[in-house]
Amino acid sequence: MEEKKTLFSAVQPSGILTIGNYLGALKNFKKLQSDYNSIFALADLHTLTVKQETGALKKNTYELLALYLACGLNPEESVIFAQSHVSAHAELAWILNTITYPGELSRMTQFKDKSQKHADNINMGLMDYPVLMASDILLYQTDLVPIGADQKQHLELSRDLAIRFNNRFGETFKVPDGYFAKNCARVMSLSEPERKMSKSDPNLNSFISMDDDIDTIIRKFKRAVTDSDNRIVYSEDKKGISNLLTIYCAFTDKTIEEAEKEFDGQLYGAFKLKVGEAVAEKIEPIRLEKNRLLANKDYLDDVLSSGAIRAERIAYRTLNKVYKKVGLVPKKRV
Ligand code: TRP
Repeated sequence: MEEKKTLFSAVQPSGILTIGNYLGALKNFKKLQSDYNSIFALADLHTLTVKQETGALKKNTYELLALYLACGLNPEESVIFAQSHVSAHAELAWILNTITYPGELSRMTQFKDKSQKHADNINMGLMDYPVLMASDILLYQTDLVPIGADQKQHLELSRDLAIRFNNRFGETFKVPDGYFAKNCARVMSLSEPERKMSKSDPNLNSFISMDDDIDTIIRKFKRAVTDSDNRIVYSEDKKGISNLLTIYCAFTDKTIEEAEKEFDGQLYGAFKLKVGEAVAEKIEPIRLEKNRLLANKDYLDDVLSSGAIRAERIAYRTLNKVYKKVGLVPKKRV
């Protein structure tokens, strides 16, 4: 039998996740986990690049872990762990820093965006973010990295650094490829459908959080912005209706044509209710399971510690090779 390829991905525990994050990441993780040697990290060190309220990071880390599990990630099958528990991530990032040029980092779109958004806290970590991400990926000799379009530039840097290191010090890292889910839904705001759905939108009606209960979901969809034309069809000039159709199809695995036919001649109100119900039907069991898991911290801690042990085994194999290649004196074990 052919050996399985290695897949690595991570999400930052930075608070609320929306149905956009679910469709873009978590839903696919579940589908992919048995086809690959899958490794899913909680990128908690990355989250420190933005100021955190006291206690928030810890809470959000458990929340994200519980959400991973509630979405169907299996800790016996996949390696699931917190980035900060495997110190090789920070160690390899240091080595990679020595072959990274400041210009490569300062021109990153996300760095420029975040520098604007967090103008009072432009720190070196914010700039170095993509190098830590490269370290995450390269430590596991990763073949595939499922990512959204916003992380493409960062993956490109990971590839460049792997190739650069291999050229300078000899074959060490596998050069990873991006994995872009086919027809992955791009979910837009419910109140301003020309903008991407975002958890940081001050208008809470504009996004569906993975923590919203059934009533909240239905209410938010009822308020979703549409138009005055009363035809349920996908079209460039009907951004609101098109977004609702996209969401409906992503949650029901139907095609746009099927959905258009299903809702042909119906009123917007009835359609919005159907979309809300389809989303709630998928999200509600996840929310309940997540809350059930959160009540059992001991179990979550066990998942993290066994995940870290499995991750360390792989990560240190790579790090030891790297230390040797760059010429550091090997540490004598006594
Ligand atoms: N930067 C990614 C995001 O915000 C999260 C992340 C950290 C990641 N390390 C990674 C994703 C490694 C893929 C691979 O979405």
